[in-house]
Amino acid sequence: MDRRSFLAAAAATFVLPAPATTSSRTLARDPFTLGIASGDPSTDGFVLWTRLALDPLGANGRGAMPSRDVEVDWQLSTDERFGKILRSGTATARWKDAHSVHVELDGLEPGREYFYRFRAEGRLSPTGRTRTAPSGATQPLAFAVAACAHYEHGFYTAYRRLAEQEPDLVLFLGDYLYEYGPSGYTALAGRVRTHTPGKCATLADYRLRHAQYKSDADLQRAHAVAPWLVSFDDHELENNWAGPVSSTGAPAFAHRRASAFRAYYENMPLRRASLQGAVLRVNRRVTWGTLARFHLLDTRQFRDDQACLDGVRAGCDERLSERRTLLGGDQWRWLSEGLRASTTQWNLLGQQILMMQRDYKRGPGREVNLDAWDGYAAERHRLLELMSTTSNPVVLTGDAHMHHAASLKLDFDDPDSPVIAPELVASSIASDGDGYRDKVWIEEGLAENPHISYIDQRRGYIMARLNSTELSAEFRTLEYISRRGAPAKTTHRVTVPVSAP
Ligand SMILES: [Fe+2]
Repeated sequence: MDRRSFLAAAAATFVLPAPATTSSRTLARDPFTLGIASGDPSTDGFVLWTRLALDPLGANGRGAMPSRDVEVDWQLSTDERFGKILRSGTATARWKDAHSVHVELDGLEPGREYFYRFRAEGRLSPTGRTRTAPSGATQPLAFAVAACAHYEHGFYTAYRRLAEQEPDLVLFLGDYLYEYGPSGYTALAGRVRTHTPGKCATLADYRLRHAQYKSDADLQRAHAVAPWLVSFDDHELENNWAGPVSSTGAPAFAHRRASAFRAYYENMPLRRASLQGAVLRVNRRVTWGTLARFHLLDTRQFRDDQACLDGVRAGCDERLSERRTLLGGDQWRWLSEGLRASTTQWNLLGQQILMMQRDYKRGPGREVNLDAWDGYAAERHRLLELMSTTSNPVVLTGDAHMHHAASLKLDFDDPDSPVIAPELVASSIASDGDGYRDKVWIEEGLAENPHISYIDQRRGYIMARLNSTELSAEFRTLEYISRRGAPAKTTHRVTVPVSAP
């Protein structure tokens, strides 16, 4: 495939002559202002997504769409010019679903690239590229890891650079959007754009915020280039919520949570099976031939409330309690059974919050983040014990708004404790703005935490390449996002050789 022609095509709405539509209705403008996406590849299919909006910021989160259902045709081809249509069909973008469409395909060939597009009432969408997972022995896998994309804090150049690298797969590990109203979270001096009004609380609020984020061309480009495996953390609903508990004690939290979950599903390339009543199930597995299995975790929805009133603090014995759970009983059983049964060479755990021990206090004493695994230390220990019998485990993480490379150990305070797995933490796409490189702060952080080998406070993502002999992860870093156009540079590389079974 010609890289430039595909990216050019993905960036612009096609102006091909549209075949005659079965409906005499027409939409006044292009309804594909929120882009297209695909996700959750299996060996024979994936989910295709779009959501129609004539104006992303239209009132009540409804994108200025007419108050009726709209028929949406879809097409699949192995050729980006759609010379031969492999599959096609029609889905209904329902008013009640904010005109979102999820098409789940099966019966396709494993390990292949496909192209897709939609058409609604004579209007054609951009083209997306996606792929099925391979079966058996497979080519090397290139995947990107990204998290945390506060819209106000900077432009999405990191998404654009990620798209230009054309990964096979994108893992998104939480904070796809932020719920705060304008300047509601760390009022940076250089805010580049403004959230929709108010803190998100209702279904209409969350729909509108998703539409605002999805209207970004760089984000659309990243979705169009590869299937995504998405999972949420806290800000898709509310800062530092925990299971049924609001961190702010806001009233009617269950209703708000349901609204946030519904809007999240409507706006993401998730399979219908992820909707399970009041639960939005995002812990799931994707297998990439005999090479790798991704175990996507949910460290937010089933957790116990944070110990000692949350925060970064010292001296909290409660965080060490054997009874505390981060994953919840069902997910723990699902994960432990999945790790034990896995026969792939690599096992990649995609999850939201720092798994490593992380001391934030300079000098003697220790301060840890009670929202991260440090607040659930006994369960972390059990998980690391389990991972010590797992084939080539690797932990992939978001949340920190800084790149980190670290070694996970059963005893972080013992230099002789064996390394169980690497933890690779992707910095943020945009959250916290340009960032900086505070050498003194980093040196102190590394000195306090000898199991950490790299910290970088600038924006970026991870691009990893995996084959049967090694994992090679590049930390991709941008100097600025307050202006457009920053290049992404590889500022650190981690190579993990495969270990014999
Ligand atoms: Fe974040």
